[in-house]
Amino acid sequence: MGHAEPQATAVEARQPYWMPFSPNKEFKAEPKMFSRAKGMYFYTPEGREVIDASSGLFCVAAGHCRDEIAQAVFQQLQTLDFTAPFLRAHAKAFELAERITHHTPKGLNRVFFTNSGSEAVDTAMKIALAYHRVKGQAQRQLFVARERAYHGVNMGGVSLAGMVNNRRAYGVGLAGVYHMRHTALPENRFAKGQPDKGADLADDLLRLCNLYGGENIAACFVEPAAGSFGCLPPPKGYLNRLREICTQQGILLVFDEVITGWGRMGAPFGAQAFGVTPDLLTMAKAVTNGAQPMGAVAARQDIYDAITEAGPAKGVEFFHGYTYSAHPASCAAGLAMMDIFAKERLIERAAAMSPKFIDAIHSLRDCGVVTDIRSVGLMAAVDVAVDGMPGARGHEAQKRLYDAGLNLKNTGDALIVAPPLVMEDKHLDEIVAKLRQVLKSL
Ligand SMILES: Cc1ncc(COP(=O)(O)O)c(C=O)c1O
Repeated sequence: MGHAEPQATAVEARQPYWMPFSPNKEFKAEPKMFSRAKGMYFYTPEGREVIDASSGLFCVAAGHCRDEIAQAVFQQLQTLDFTAPFLRAHAKAFELAERITHHTPKGLNRVFFTNSGSEAVDTAMKIALAYHRVKGQAQRQLFVARERAYHGVNMGGVSLAGMVNNRRAYGVGLAGVYHMRHTALPENRFAKGQPDKGADLADDLLRLCNLYGGENIAACFVEPAAGSFGCLPPPKGYLNRLREICTQQGILLVFDEVITGWGRMGAPFGAQAFGVTPDLLTMAKAVTNGAQPMGAVAARQDIYDAITEAGPAKGVEFFHGYTYSAHPASCAAGLAMMDIFAKERLIERAAAMSPKFIDAIHSLRDCGVVTDIRSVGLMAAVDVAVDGMPGARGHEAQKRLYDAGLNLKNTGDALIVAPPLVMEDKHLDEIVAKLRQVLKSL
């Protein structure tokens, strides 16, 4: 009689999957899973409904499992599943780039496709370096970013990043990246929208120019409103001042709009919401409603022209790209999403909902553990008081919220609320009621 293999326990069976940005040991012992989703809701394997207060991860602007996107991807995979994006192309790549430029700030009408926000950030760094080089300013090799920034997880983006846990294990990163101070000031606590104080923090860029030579700086990267750290809207006048300094010093201003893009700020991009136009702009996430991986960099036309014209007449001009750049299925999803944006006026809808959303989230201020609330567009963060280890209470809140039927992401002790743009009043009421219930329990 043969010996049957001992059955792996459920926890053992979960071990091979190395989960990203997750407490692997805890999760595998107590998994918090989803098995399907529709509209504003996730469903657990047991069939429990969980309202999605974070658009998955800032992606699902149009609500989950949109038929139009699913059909478009399915048809695409049956028609042209893949073609190399180098030396070959398919029509939807051109069409999507063109449709995207209907929404990007005026002048940013050249689109380079990537597969993620992280890749978009590193691509933007390379575009900046390549541009200065062809303009005869190859000495511009330094970058400026900001504390508390998230610019993805590739080595370029990690070097720009201002979040210590994303950096501390990975050595020195790229040389020549300097950081401005973050903009979270105690006097701005509980500000609704853009805070009044802090525009002068933009002068940190000038200090770095004075220290390292503005003529040596290639680009200044900022999220117009920092997202992943926990919603830091720009102080009034701050982005305008950065723009002024960049223009004076010949530095490219890059807005990392991976979260703030596609309606989250109540305008197509943060650039329009805050009235400041960058030279390069990154996007990802909601461009396909999260249904297919895709990111992109939108560039000023003259940046594209300078790099392209400097290249040989019949040779590659920009030595960069990914096997899956402009993947046909991602382009099909993106085009279906462009139709949804137009048909459902999602961006206008987000703008209309924003004041109500902000007031509703700020009503949580009376919960004893809440120490700050920041908000802009359809994004907010509720800070809970540190209890023991920094981040422990935020983590506990996130778990209790899942159990109570609400999905969101915490960063440390900040609970980040960023619902799909299709949210209705009844969903907002449910989100606030569940948050209140859990905040009171902490
Ligand atoms: C501002 C910003 N940049 C870059 C990224 C990285 O995007 P991805 O996770 O798609 O690589 C993110 C992700 O949240 C982001 O918020």
